[in-house]
Amino acid sequence: MGEVDGRAIVEVRSSIIPETVNREFRLRRRPVGRIAPDDFELVRAPVPKAGPGEALVRNLYLSLDPTNRIWVEDVEQYMPPVQLGEVMRGSGLGQVVESNDPALPPGTIVNGLLGWQDYAVLGGTRGVMAQAVPAGLPVPLPTLLGALGVTGVTAYFGLLDIGQPKAGETVVVSAAAGATGSVVGQIARIKGCRVVGIAGGPEKCGWITRELGFDAAVDYKAADWRDRLRAATPAGVDLDFENVGGEIMDEVMGRMNLGGRVVLCGMISGYNEGKPMHGRFDTILMKRLRVQGFIVIDYLPRFPEAIMQLAQWMAEGKLKHRDTIVDGLERAPEALNLLFDGGNVGKLIVKIADPPLKL
Ligand SMILES: NC(=O)c1ccc[n+]([C@@H]2O[C@H](COP(=O)([O-])OP(=O)(O)OC[C@H]3O[C@@H](n4cnc5c(N)ncnc54)[C@H](OP(=O)(O)O)[C@@H]3O)[C@@H](O)[C@H]2O)c1
Repeated sequence: MGEVDGRAIVEVRSSIIPETVNREFRLRRRPVGRIAPDDFELVRAPVPKAGPGEALVRNLYLSLDPTNRIWVEDVEQYMPPVQLGEVMRGSGLGQVVESNDPALPPGTIVNGLLGWQDYAVLGGTRGVMAQAVPAGLPVPLPTLLGALGVTGVTAYFGLLDIGQPKAGETVVVSAAAGATGSVVGQIARIKGCRVVGIAGGPEKCGWITRELGFDAAVDYKAADWRDRLRAATPAGVDLDFENVGGEIMDEVMGRMNLGGRVVLCGMISGYNEGKPMHGRFDTILMKRLRVQGFIVIDYLPRFPEAIMQLAQWMAEGKLKHRDTIVDGLERAPEALNLLFDGGNVGKLIVKIADPPLKL
């Protein structure tokens, strides 16, 4: 142990770092339409060293999110777009393997914006945003990126804080077999609502009704999906948790009851299009709807409250989840398209490295 600027330095134990090369996906050009592998360049750089006050993290799991597609677009958004030549932004879980920060000793598991790379440096001036994960949580690590991570928290605050569901109301959620939608539907059931999920294909529809307890599912890939939506919502729709936008949102809006609420969480059907999306303003007016967009990072200070409640529901068997895990950082660009093709059930995650080293 030494000291710099009055801060203790944890001894650097470089021998525990398994690799010498850091693979980094850098944004080469702005995608047009779907992500193409050439939109990113896979650069092999030396594994960085932790400087004063910094910690080096070996990335274990990378979360793939629809917002990744937004981040590479040069449009107004809630964070600065990723710049050409920059390491692709991405949230993930990693383990501290070298540290000059006493608050992050080697072995600590961290959760944050670790990027599409094998190693990230936390703290100091080049550091990225990340937080230590409490040790000994009784769930597999990937769960902390999904049902007990950002998408679970998005479902929790989006539905409860913005949507304010009441028992007996009809709630419709789109992308219902995805990471956010699957949790939204289960929370709405816990709150006593009638829940209708919209998802692509009979398998996903079967999962959300049979295993997750949704009251009904509408397969939007079926030719008669509009009729099925009407049949599944005989008393209209009080609350739409919108993840998809476009045609699906228009159709649900057409079923809204007077004074209904629309929680505008995402509009994934338009993210590859690169042009503004539109909505049914006529219906908003005539039906006196409340439509509210939200971004989950605004709830950052309240994340622990949501995670504790979600974890309790999980322990009680009221909240189930699935993860789709793709093996290998090198597959991240192609895997991102699974979100747009419906190739994931529940949370989409890339496994970068074998789970934590014994330190
Ligand atoms: N506001 C926030 O803070 C916040 C935070 C997290 C996520 N979100 C939003 O929430 C939504 C879901 O995100 P997620 O991370 O939970 O992803 P996800 O639902 O796990 O995956 C996306 C799903 O969307 C469906 N989908 C894709 N393109 C579609 C299309 N054209 N029409 C209909 N369905 C389509 C696919 O399922 P099917 O097989 O059913 O087509 C796919 O599995 C996204 O819009 C995302 O941007 C917002």
